[in-house]
Amino acid sequence: MQRIPVAGPWITEKEVRYVADAAATAWYENANAYVTKFEKAFAEYIGVSHAVSLPSCTSALHLALVALGIGPGDEVIVPDLTWIASSAPISYVGAIPIFADINPTSWCLDPESVEKRITPRTKAVIAVDLYGNMPDMRSLASLGRRHGIALIEDAAEAIGSEFAGRKAGSFGDTGTFSFHGSKTLTTGEGGMLVTNRADLHERVMRLRDHGRNPGDRMFVNHEVAFKYKMSALQAAFGLAQLERVDELLSRKRDIFGWYQARLGNVPHVVLNKQHPTTNSVYWMVTAIVDGALRKSKETVMERLAAAAIDSRPVFNPLSALPAYREYGGPDIWRSRNPVTYSLAPWGVNLPSGLNMTEELVSRVCEALLDALELKAR
Ligand SMILES: Cc1ncc(COP(=O)(O)O)c(C=O)c1O
Repeated sequence: MQRIPVAGPWITEKEVRYVADAAATAWYENANAYVTKFEKAFAEYIGVSHAVSLPSCTSALHLALVALGIGPGDEVIVPDLTWIASSAPISYVGAIPIFADINPTSWCLDPESVEKRITPRTKAVIAVDLYGNMPDMRSLASLGRRHGIALIEDAAEAIGSEFAGRKAGSFGDTGTFSFHGSKTLTTGEGGMLVTNRADLHERVMRLRDHGRNPGDRMFVNHEVAFKYKMSALQAAFGLAQLERVDELLSRKRDIFGWYQARLGNVPHVVLNKQHPTTNSVYWMVTAIVDGALRKSKETVMERLAAAAIDSRPVFNPLSALPAYREYGGPDIWRSRNPVTYSLAPWGVNLPSGLNMTEELVSRVCEALLDALELKAR
């Protein structure tokens, strides 16, 4: 039986052609041509003034924090339910991650919980567009303004999603994207930082190239910084994908629609839901199973694997991870972030790669219902 992977891209002859062209031509006076084109097209697509290509979204979040001047002793609020890449850069700069709860419908950062976590040491909030969904960006932006706290939007999983008609990544002081191979738009590995702030753009351009000013030919380093640059080959790949972004997003929405048609009315199973003003791209179709069924994510994943179907667990609460044991662990954070702790054990990401067909989605849904010992309605 054909194994169904959990994620993967949609690559056409166009990507291959652009990368081959970059391999042949992106040298000498053309060395930066693809990088510049990709950054310009990306900024236009998101609707922001500047885009800076980087090796990953993790490096984008790192530079965002450095450029905003966040450092030792500062506190940065981050949702408890996300991939550790959203929070690890907080530790890179010596700051302290503070975990806030999520909204039970969007599964994204809850502004009320954020407000409770604000202290005089809070310098930034990292809002994550989890699985392509978005938090209430209007409330988070106004909260940031009221308290004088920077807003960073981790849109790693949400290229093309919109909140109140504005694209994911365009809210706040800066936004970040991932082009990892599992993402809707990929460059293999890669990332982008976007911003409307000229000061942040200037600083990030310098920070990504060992403290040199853009265009510097005299090798003058103004500060000790980082080497975080994207190659022309990756940028060519990304440009081809960006020129196809509408078809990539439309396939993602079709995939969610196929799951929704089969699982939408099944009792005890909840699929991704969104705020009425959000238009999600459904990066990962996710099923949260009613805890009353006593089918943990580990059990469901094992049963799907037996049917040759790969899946992923919904992220574990950051505050429960061994990596963050110094912040007190679940004994402290479970009662502070009850929604995160109530959903995390029961959620599974279903195959959402761009190679999914309606037949494959049917196979996954049947296997899931078997795993849960449920019948479709
Ligand atoms: C929410 C979130 N933030 C950040 C990242 C980090 O992206 P990258 O792997 O490009 O560093 C990811 C990617 O897995 C992610 O899902």
